[in-house]
Amino acid sequence: MRIDIFSLFPQMFSGPFDNSILKRAVAQGLVNINIHNIRDYTHDKHHTTDDYAYGGGAGMVMKPEPVFEAVETIRSQAPEMADKKLSIILLTPQGRLFCQPVADQLVHFDWLMLICGHYEGVDERIREYLATDELSIGDYVLTGGELAAMVVSDAVIRLLPGVLGSSESLLYESHTGGLLEYPQYTRPEVFRNWAVPEVLLSGNHAEIARWRREESIKRTVNRRPDLLKNNNL
Ligand code: 6GU
Repeated sequence: MRIDIFSLFPQMFSGPFDNSILKRAVAQGLVNINIHNIRDYTHDKHHTTDDYAYGGGAGMVMKPEPVFEAVETIRSQAPEMADKKLSIILLTPQGRLFCQPVADQLVHFDWLMLICGHYEGVDERIREYLATDELSIGDYVLTGGELAAMVVSDAVIRLLPGVLGSSESLLYESHTGGLLEYPQYTRPEVFRNWAVPEVLLSGNHAEIARWRREESIKRTVNRRPDLLKNNNL
């Protein structure tokens, strides 16, 4: 998969892709990530990327020209990707809510372009004529789309075949099967007088599976009853 990220603050992306599982995925060639500075696609002396809103009101609006030019330039530089499945995603609080089923959809694209929105908003023509999708990562306001782009990238990359090792398996995790993860323990058996539940030491695999399922259900009922609405236990 190829991911191109368009941002006014490209330095924000050093870190997340240079560590741990994502670093390994990049090194193995399972994903190719490119970060672009939208400001590089301006032509005026001050490299202007925002301007006042028509109709007035507080806050600046991201100008369309540099964003269109950045995306179109990168696209035209990759003719080999012309027939590949591409999604051009605007990260904005107005987007549809990003969740695991959306990540499961996005992993089937060959190419993701992530445009990080900023200021009070982006010129409507970016959403209407450039983006093919709009995503928000939750009902809270961030200073810009960068952290959201990292979240979306991480959630999608880990689904790519070969990215996770067997120890980081996709099975039995929170939000697959629509239930929260059951409690997990490792050694020592007793830590500061707090013992591991006895059933886990029993070696009775049927009992252990039953206990884990019950704990998952209890935990979901208590913490995230909203998840149970679409779940046929
Ligand atoms: Cl994608 N952008 C901003 N600025 N705030 C957000 C968001 C995105 N998703 C949740 N809050």
